[in-house]
Parts: sequence; structure tokens; C-alpha cells
Amino acid sequence: MIIPRPRDLAVLGGSVAFSEDLVRHRPDPGLPEEGYRLTLNEGGIELASGGPAGAYYGRQTLRQLGERLPEGVIEDAPRFGWRGVMLDVARHFMPKAFILRLIDLIAELKLNVLHLHLTDDQGWRLEIRRYPRLTEVSGDHYTHEDIREIVAYAADRFVRIVPEIGLPGHVQAALAAYPELGNDPSETYEVWTKWGISEHTLNLEEETIAFFQHVLDEVCDLFPGEYVHVGGDECRNDEWERTPRAQERIRELGLPGAHACRAWITARMAEHLAKKDRKLVYWYEKPDGPPGATTMTWLDEESGELAALEGRDVVLAPHLRTYLDYPPEQEAGPFFPDRVLSLSNTYHFAPPSAPGIIGVQAQLWTEYMPTPADVERQAFPRLLAFAEVAWGSAGDYSDFLRRLDPHLTRLAAQGVSVGPLIP
Ligand code: ACM
Repeated sequence: MIIPRPRDLAVLGGSVAFSEDLVRHRPDPGLPEEGYRLTLNEGGIELASGGPAGAYYGRQTLRQLGERLPEGVIEDAPRFGWRGVMLDVARHFMPKAFILRLIDLIAELKLNVLHLHLTDDQGWRLEIRRYPRLTEVSGDHYTHEDIREIVAYAADRFVRIVPEIGLPGHVQAALAAYPELGNDPSETYEVWTKWGISEHTLNLEEETIAFFQHVLDEVCDLFPGEYVHVGGDECRNDEWERTPRAQERIRELGLPGAHACRAWITARMAEHLAKKDRKLVYWYEKPDGPPGATTMTWLDEESGELAALEGRDVVLAPHLRTYLDYPPEQEAGPFFPDRVLSLSNTYHFAPPSAPGIIGVQAQLWTEYMPTPADVERQAFPRLLAFAEVAWGSAGDYSDFLRRLDPHLTRLAAQGVSVGPLIP
């Protein structure tokens, strides 16, 4: 009944009644940092752990086992160090209370990264004190105090927050606030109210690089984790191709053409983050990222291994396995009806093993999810399947379906909106 299922479970015949004061905890440096071992017998419950996160996960397992614990030994540790969920709070803003609730829900599944997609064409959701218009044009946003609360709440549950400031495409909301960042000084930009890929990108001026480096300075002050995501996906080259000033900059910089501008801007951000001892993460589409950057491979399942072969760290996020915003089955309406992600396709995602593959991540893009209840309905039950993939214990699918019931009941009892179970 445990989700994610422990990776090594040796159950004997008897059972032990659970009580909190029967639990004896001891550190075991022989176990991985997030690993734990539960020894359950009539003498009590010994919880050994490699580190505090391991002890936390051991207790999550005990809680799921219920009031009568099987006698035996459970030795458990995750396959991946990055077990992530991405929430897009740019397309539709999600209130802080919901972010905290989502942290609780993912921590129960032993997931340990919440990646917040904070900016896009349709909104800029993070207060930047140096550039107040960014949030003035976008309406709802998180203040510095909100972020500090979210980061601390997450840390208590062994969840790291990875912030994403997307660039140099998906920036129309930033251009609406500061048009001088764009390629056409005569243009007035609006925070976009459509979905799709805006053709607008950042210009190639040093002032624009400095603007975003200042933004990243505030981001690094707010988010203590080692990773900062800078987007990089779906960046169109049209404006750099047709704007005389961009062409002039391309020549000055010695770039081979407009197609190389995205990588140039990403590399400038990577240099800046490296000085602050932070690692840059970006959405990987082709092998042009800065040395040492961590890639998030979203296009297909093959690109994860390709990025790993380049010697990069990789978080696998192939859309046909991990985009939980896709409907679970064909349905009419404005959802992408040609892209469906079934519970079984999520469960059967078999991440390759290669040096550099550090994790997997599930995505919740919110174009078609205006409310927290919509997000929950898309997340569950598929996030339960994803949690087993991330932990590395996904096995027999019918066994998973049998174990699902108490979890769906528990989620419903917590007031979570659970989507249809379409096996
Ligand atoms: C993406 O789905 N554009 C990362």
C-alpha cells in the first residue's frame, strides 16, 4: 500500500502495533542521505537513516503502513536525487496557500523538488524590487515575504524550490513592463492574453544582459538552493533575423547568426550564476548550452541520453510521459486533443540509466488550469504513478493499481480534487 513502493521490502509473517513511542531512530552513515531502513519486530521499530531526509521518508512510510505494521525489514532509498514537479504560476497565478498545500502533497510522495515557472509571456509573478513594473503590469504575484515563507515551508519537508525566470523567449510580460528590453524600440508590448509562442525575444544589448543579471541577483537572494532555471525553450529567431540592430550586434559579438543568440544569452546568465556558486538549468532542445549547465530535456525520450552523452547533468522531462497538463484521455474541448497522457504511460516511463541523469520531473503547465482545483485534478492520480518512477520502484502496473485505492481515499479526505482514474 505504500507509494512510492519501497525498493527493498522483506516482510515476515507477524505484525506489530504502531505507536510513535516505539520508534527508535539512529543515524546510519552507511545509508544514502535520503535512504532509511525500518526494522519492525516485536521489540519495536528501529528507524535508521543516512540523513535527516531519510528519517523523514522512513516516517512517511510508517504513516502509510497504518496501525498494524508487518514484521520485517524495509531498506529503501531513491534512485534519483532530483524528483521534481514543475508548476506554471505564470499562465495562471496560484495562491501561496495552494503552493504550500502542493508542497505537502508532493512531500508525502517523497518528491523533493518544486520548480516554479515564475515568468512567461502571460505574466511575471515574482516581485523584483529593483524593477517594480515587472509585477505592476502582471497583477497577482509573490512578494519576497511570500517566497521566504514558501522556501522555508518546503525546506522543512525536504523539498527544494527551483525558481525559473524564462528567457530570452517567453518574455512578453517583461517587455510589457520594460519595452527597452525588446528588439523594437517603437513597439508597445502587452502582457499576452493568448496561448502559444510569442515571436518577441530580448534584444542583445549589454543593458538587457545587466537587467536580467540584476534580476538573478534578487532571485539568488530569495532562493537559497543551488539551481536556478532560466528557461530557454521555444525561442523564435525572427526578430533577431529581421532587426538591423540585432544583426549589428550579431556581427559585433562574432556570432554565426540569429540561431546562436539564445545560447549566447543563456551563457551570459550561466557566467553570472557561476560567480554566485549557482548552477544554471535550462530547457534543452539542442546541444548548444553553456558548459556545466544542467539540462531539462522535454522534447522526447531520446534527448535525455543525448544530453548525458555531452557530459551534462540531465533532468528527464519528456512531454509524452511527464506533462500532467495533457488530458488523461481523448476529450473534446480546448485541451490539446492530439496529446494525451494516460496513467499507464506515466507509470511505464522507464528512465534510462546513464551517468549524468540526475532526475526526472513531472510538469503542470496551467494554460488550461485556471484554479488550484484544476491543477489537483490534472496532478492526481498520475503524480502517484510518477512518484514511483522517480523513486525508482515502479514495477508491476496491476500491483500499483491495487495499491492506489487508499491513497485516493486519503487525498479525497484531505479535500484534494482527484481526477478520474482511467487505468
Ligand atoms: C516547454 O514545454 N516549452 C518546455
